[in-house]
Amino acid sequence: MSLVVRNARLLDGRLVDLLAEDGRWTRIDESIAADAAREVEADGRLVTPPLVDCHLHLDASLTAGKPRWNESGTLIEGIHVWGELKPSLTEQDVFERAREIVRWSVAQGTLFIRAHADVSGENEAMVRGLLRLRDEVADLCTVQVTAFPQDGIFARDGDEERLENALRLGVDCVGGIPHYEPTAELGLKEVHRVFELAKQYSRRIDVHCDETDDPSSRFLEVMADDTVKFGLGGRVTASHCTAMGSYEPYYSSKLHGFLRRAGINIVVNPYANSLIQGRLDVYPKRRGFAQLKELLAAGVNVSLGNDVIMDPWYLMGRADMVEAASLALHFTYMSGLEEIPEMLRCATERGARTLGVEDEYGIEEGKPADLVVYDAPSALEVLRLHPPRRWVIRRGRVVAETTPARTTLLGEPVTFAPPL
Ligand code: FE2
Repeated sequence: MSLVVRNARLLDGRLVDLLAEDGRWTRIDESIAADAAREVEADGRLVTPPLVDCHLHLDASLTAGKPRWNESGTLIEGIHVWGELKPSLTEQDVFERAREIVRWSVAQGTLFIRAHADVSGENEAMVRGLLRLRDEVADLCTVQVTAFPQDGIFARDGDEERLENALRLGVDCVGGIPHYEPTAELGLKEVHRVFELAKQYSRRIDVHCDETDDPSSRFLEVMADDTVKFGLGGRVTASHCTAMGSYEPYYSSKLHGFLRRAGINIVVNPYANSLIQGRLDVYPKRRGFAQLKELLAAGVNVSLGNDVIMDPWYLMGRADMVEAASLALHFTYMSGLEEIPEMLRCATERGARTLGVEDEYGIEEGKPADLVVYDAPSALEVLRLHPPRRWVIRRGRVVAETTPARTTLLGEPVTFAPPL
């Protein structure tokens, strides 16, 4: 089976043809004469490697309203609603809801997802449902599963063992939530325990770290130190890190250096954090975002996640990483001409680095033929318009197509593009 994509615009502006054979790119050149079983005419549209969703609570997706609505929209009510729902979930229910979100994601060009499975409490349905999902959708989408102890590991008897049990069940990453432990001391203990488990079971780490507006929440520096001590550079991710939005400049600059030297990945989740952080402030209110722009400048890898989709914490969402990138762009001041394409890289190649899948990712000869063709010519236009993904290609096969909507005004087309 072969496929050729013609006149595809790369992020660096070059126009190329791409030939895929047996699921891999075999030629990328200015013009390829070969015939192929399937031909896609990109006609100058932008292409990138797949979008990467680095952080998604797939076990909770599509549960909004069950068993009741989050009336206040706050984090704490969301946690209470989720706690009420969790015991009743089944592996089948988790699997089916998560599979539906994978369908939405792939249709919009996201072919890599790091999911979080709540492993706090006795019900194993969340982790079992997502492990089954990972294996069953592998041809369509690469899913990694993180064991996420939503309630911490020291607040309730048995939760520390349940986290380790999830590793035995086969999750890809060990998670944590140190700022949520009853005391800072227990939070420190949790970070160290997560690193010990990762080392023992040879897994990656993805910790919910400092997801608070409290500037004294500083577990990220402990993660950086443990990353060096355990020799896990590149394999460790800290997610959310919203307390960084409240760190003063001196401490921030010290922390940036620590993170770069340790080789930690940071994941920004703009949806929930734009609504949850700063909520208790009087005006002026803080934004509660990790320092994405400054971290990139310091040489730290930053990527993005959807985090929440129609769940107890967030009643909206439709699994679009372009919209997530656009929202993050606004909250982190990434609006400079060169910063806009960098934002798209945070949703694509930087995400691949976070997941550790770089060897099987990218528009290069020999790599898997995965591609997104946007219905727009540049990164700026993609982030301005959130255009349909005209074609999504997985392993050399077109798996999703979208026909763009057509708008007319008094019979004349309206394109939302500047006149030529
Ligand atoms: Fe999260």
